Amino acid sequence: MGKVYVFDHPLIQHKVSMMRDVNTPVKEFRDLAREVSMLMGFEATRDLPLNEVEIETPICKTKANMLAGGDIAIVPILRAGLGFVDGMLELVPTAKVGHVGLYRDPDTHEPVEYYCKLPTDIDQRKVFVLDPMLATGGSAVAAVDFIKQRGAKDIRFMCLIAAPEGIKVLSEAHPDIDIYIAAKDDHLNEHAYIVPGLGDAGDRLFGTK
Ligand code: PRP
Ligand code: URA
Repeated sequence: MGKVYVFDHPLIQHKVSMMRDVNTPVKEFRDLAREVSMLMGFEATRDLPLNEVEIETPICKTKANMLAGGDIAIVPILRAGLGFVDGMLELVPTAKVGHVGLYRDPDTHEPVEYYCKLPTDIDQRKVFVLDPMLATGGSAVAAVDFIKQRGAKDIRFMCLIAAPEGIKVLSEAHPDIDIYIAAKDDHLNEHAYIVPGLGDAGDRLFGTK
C-alpha cells in the first residue's frame, strides 16, 4: 500500500485555513494555492535523485549535489489542478506538464473524461498528479488510470484537502502510489462535497460562481 503523508507544517495549515474561508476572494485564493503548492512540493520532492558534479566556488573547486533532473512530469487534473501548476514549476522549472480533463457528473458524482494530453516520455518520468480536492476519489482514480495506460510507473498524488472516503478509494485502486495531503477532513456530504472542505475548488480558483 502506498504511503499517505499529511503535511501538518504550520505555514501550510495557516494557508489552507485561509483558503477554506468563504470570504477569501478569488485572487487571494489563487495566490494561496500557488504558495501551498510550493510548500507541499518542497516536501513531496524530498526523494528526487541528485548527481554529484564538480563546480568552482570563488574559493576552490569542489564537488556539489545538483538535481539529476529531466525526469519529472506534473499532471494537473483540469480545472482545479491548474492552481497547483505554477508553484510546482517554480520549484522544478524543467518539468514537463501534462493535462487530464475530468469533471464530476453533478448527479452521479462519477468522473467524465474530456481531455488527456501527456508528455510522450511519461513512462520515463516521476509523475506528480495535482488536484486540490480528493472527495469520492473517482476523479483521482480515473486520472491515474489514464496516466498508467500511457506507461507511467512512478506516480504520486498531491492534493490540498482529502476526505477519508477518497483516500481509501484511491489507495485501494492504486496501492503503488503515495498520496500527499495538506489536510484530512471529516466526511462527504450528500452532494459528495468535502466537509468542512473549501467548497468547489474550480469555482473558488476561477471565480465561476
Ligand atoms: C473537483 C476536483 C476534483 C474532483 C474531486 O473537480 O477538482 O477533480 O472534483 O471529486 P471526486 O474525488 O469526488 O472525484 P470538478 O469535478 O468539480 O471539476 P472542475 O475542476 O472542472 O470544477
Ligand atoms: N470537488 C470540489 O471542488 N470540492 C469538494 O468538496 C468535492 C469535490
